[in-house]
Amino acid sequence: MKIAILPGDGIGPEIMKQAVKVLNVLGERFELETADVGGAGYAGHGHPLPASTLALARAADAVLFGAVGDYKYDSLERSLRPEQAILGLRKELALFANLRPAILYPELAGASTLKPEVVSGLDILIIRELTGDIYFGKPRGVRECPDGPFKGEREGFDTMRYAESEIRRIAHVAFQAAQKRDRRVTSVDKANVLETFQFWRDIVTDVHKEYPDIELDHMYVDNAAMQLVRAPKKFDVLVTGNMFGDILSDCAAMLTGSIGMLPSASLDANNKGLYEPSHGSAPDIAGKGIANPLATILSAAMMLRFSLGRPEQAERIETAVKAVLAQGLRTADIYEPGTTRVGTDEMGDAVVKALA
Ligand code: IPM
Ligand code: MG
Repeated sequence: MKIAILPGDGIGPEIMKQAVKVLNVLGERFELETADVGGAGYAGHGHPLPASTLALARAADAVLFGAVGDYKYDSLERSLRPEQAILGLRKELALFANLRPAILYPELAGASTLKPEVVSGLDILIIRELTGDIYFGKPRGVRECPDGPFKGEREGFDTMRYAESEIRRIAHVAFQAAQKRDRRVTSVDKANVLETFQFWRDIVTDVHKEYPDIELDHMYVDNAAMQLVRAPKKFDVLVTGNMFGDILSDCAAMLTGSIGMLPSASLDANNKGLYEPSHGSAPDIAGKGIANPLATILSAAMMLRFSLGRPEQAERIETAVKAVLAQGLRTADIYEPGTTRVGTDEMGDAVVKALA
């Protein structure tokens, strides 16, 4: 099993090191190959997604991705910015289904900014369509405004769009995921305003006919944002487009107290996938050894489950993570008085020890 290891920028390399340690003690034969991506790709090869990195990702059975982005690349033109690496990988590998679970471990109930009774036991799954919508729609750019009250001025514009088959396939992913959970799907849209999302609603409703065992409801995205902080436990699976999913998944992540805890999977039609923590590269704390590696370690667990056919190894890792939390070990982002503060390396070592 060949795994492409793409650490990226900021805290990426530190947290990836911990996930690699974990993979190495599972007793499996993995072939791990590391490559530059993001700012590191630009620095080393002149492009955030170097051709050699893309080739490695294509050849691998799965990709484990750290994070990309650093202040020093902010002034580059858009096509060379670190974010293009992850957007390019999603598009090139056709990773249209993004699974972002938001689970609150009981030990961390106090780390949430919401009252424990609102969030304790939270277990929701956000499914974000990842290769369509306004993120990739064309045309886009800055042009001279062709008509209306601002005619002749410069205007920035993007295109929101979804093809029918794109909506169908993500709806299937959502309904099938719900079959393994509480059998409820909330489709989030903006059908009251946007053509794209009225179409989305119609298609999701149609696909639902194939899943009579699943309860489907539709919710406008503004209401969904509100319900996520008001009564998040009412949700089971949320499915939505690329843009809304970007926003709602950060919101859902924070319900759990720390975005440093949440893994994610981005899958293609054959369950080949890219796995990454839901958080970013956090350049402000890079190199300090304080970043939380658990989201990356849990991403490796998701990879074992979804792409590598090793669900029992995934469970071992998840159990080990629960064990270190139960031991009271906490990185700075989830620290509370009465627990033991540890650094990135110590946390990784603790998981390795718990695995043994
Ligand atoms: C995410 C990130 C990315 C996105 C950025 C880094 C391009 O915010 O994975 O949620 O917007 O999709
Ligand atoms: Mg985001």
